[in-house]
Amino acid sequence: MTTPSLTELAAGLTAAASANPAVAPAAEPGLVEFRPEPHSLPSFFMWTLGCQMNQSDSEEMAGQLLAVGCTRAGSMETADLVVINTCAVREHAEAKVIGRQGVLANLKRERPGMRVVLTGCGVRESERSGLAHRFKAVDMFLRPDEEPELALRLGLVSAQAPIGLRTVATSATTVLSGRPVSAADRLAASRATALSEDRVARSSTISAWLPIVYGCDKTCTYCIVPFSRGPERSRPYDDILAEAREIAAAGFQELTLLGQNVNSYGHDLPAEERFAHIETERSAGRRLDLRSRPDLAELLRSIDGIRGADGGPAIPRLRFITSHPWDLSDRLIDAMASCESVVEHLHLPIQSGDDAILQRMGRQYTVGHYKERLARIREAVPGIAISTDVIVGFCGESEEQFHATLSVLEEIGYDTVFAASYSPRPGTPALRLDDDVPPAVKRRRLNELLALQEKIGLERNQAWLGRDVEVLVDHVTPARRGLDPGDSDAEDVDEPTTSVPELAGSAGEGSVALAGRTRHSKLVHLAGDPALVGHRVRVHVEHAGPFALRGRLVESPDEPDVVA
Ligand code: SAM
Ligand code: SF4
Ligand code: F3S
Repeated sequence: MTTPSLTELAAGLTAAASANPAVAPAAEPGLVEFRPEPHSLPSFFMWTLGCQMNQSDSEEMAGQLLAVGCTRAGSMETADLVVINTCAVREHAEAKVIGRQGVLANLKRERPGMRVVLTGCGVRESERSGLAHRFKAVDMFLRPDEEPELALRLGLVSAQAPIGLRTVATSATTVLSGRPVSAADRLAASRATALSEDRVARSSTISAWLPIVYGCDKTCTYCIVPFSRGPERSRPYDDILAEAREIAAAGFQELTLLGQNVNSYGHDLPAEERFAHIETERSAGRRLDLRSRPDLAELLRSIDGIRGADGGPAIPRLRFITSHPWDLSDRLIDAMASCESVVEHLHLPIQSGDDAILQRMGRQYTVGHYKERLARIREAVPGIAISTDVIVGFCGESEEQFHATLSVLEEIGYDTVFAASYSPRPGTPALRLDDDVPPAVKRRRLNELLALQEKIGLERNQAWLGRDVEVLVDHVTPARRGLDPGDSDAEDVDEPTTSVPELAGSAGEGSVALAGRTRHSKLVHLAGDPALVGHRVRVHVEHAGPFALRGRLVESPDEPDVVA
């Protein structure tokens, strides 16, 4: 396949959109060339896979396209421009997109002006030459750090937009261990520009994403993320606070700080006198110096300090994801315990319950260290809900080592486990190890683990029976849940392997089936007025399943959400 030039791409997009019968005929044909044609810009559809970081990136890309005058299409089939924001964490995630190439190619045959752009972690510099072969229907590939240039590269900025997007400086690709990765330093600056120009199209008016650190400096041997997203780059502290203030002013109920390892936020920022009280320093393979630099604890305290008219936190719920166990400092635990808005939930990936496997994974901690941190958190925040990630069938994992993971799951009693079989990823260090656990054994271990977690999850959820909890209602439960990419923009995210729709409440007259989450991140189904979406309500828990709770609305609040 020959990749079309940018001029051809832009011409194709414009031609596709001009064929739109909705374009009103000009009253004065001679004037046509002198005025902008709002309908000549393409309609777009974003298909977002992967984690919250991708969802946040998609919000920024959608914001760019809307800012230049593009419109959203209802489905892939009706869009002039399809943007696929890919995930590469497991082979399956990439295979899903490769599997849609035929459908996309057919659509393009029927509608020759249609264009497809592929972005996200599937676009790695080291494999750029093979991309066109694997993703045959794609016209343009953008690495994660090139995403701020989407509209520009499509030729939609200066030619079409009444006010051009400010372009961002392009810095050179960084080379990591002799390999080129997508690692330019411009993401923080382009986010700041996007925010100042109101170009972040948030997908919710209830919960907001806020990226605080891009990339990852860890070297987990199985993981492709450092190769797709490059090394860590923290956003400036004041930029994050300014965005949090905007989120508060806009009335969001929940804010989630994002990063592959939010616990190392700030180590790459310049030291400043105002942070002289921060003295953390640690050496873990590489020295992580946080002295006189802002850290996550400082951010939590400052965001919690943004107050509303009633004196309470302006954003009632503050979350962060993901925490690497090695970098979980006492300062952070203290901040979690003392900030009113920080929720009683922590996602702390363990990956394996065996020290030799953890070492082979390059995780930098032992099971003992992990348990010590967890005990400290549980002491500081009683009843906190804990979720985790586990990989089964990693290179050389014996039956005994797998059983060590099961024992740790039982001992810790996780609320949720996101589990997956090990999937070798191109370019990662683990490729040098023998992927010697047969696929059938990986499957069997995964099923065994999920069955055990179902039992543990049920026990954890049953502890909530008969209690009143605060639920942030975030959606009306659809009659049928589908994950077809045609359904909506950000549907196809990685759900926990253990999460299935269940326990949908039966709605009475005048009310519908609603769902939301508690501060402990428990999914709760209830029946009520659709106007409750976006509100925090008190719910009496009447039923518990392994993955969700069901309850009924109660008038008055009672005890806080603490479970012994
Ligand atoms: N930064 C987070 C951390 O350190 O836990 C997680 C990021 S990773 C994108 C999300 C999860 O995907 C990981 O926690 C791990 O369990 C899983 N994962 C990553 N690479 C994998 C692989 N090659 N095979 C299977 N699961 C993988
Ligand atoms: Fe991947 Fe490890 Fe970084 Fe998480 S901490 S993104 S698992 S390299
Ligand atoms: Fe996937 Fe990239 Fe996130 S690999 S899980 S989209 S960081």
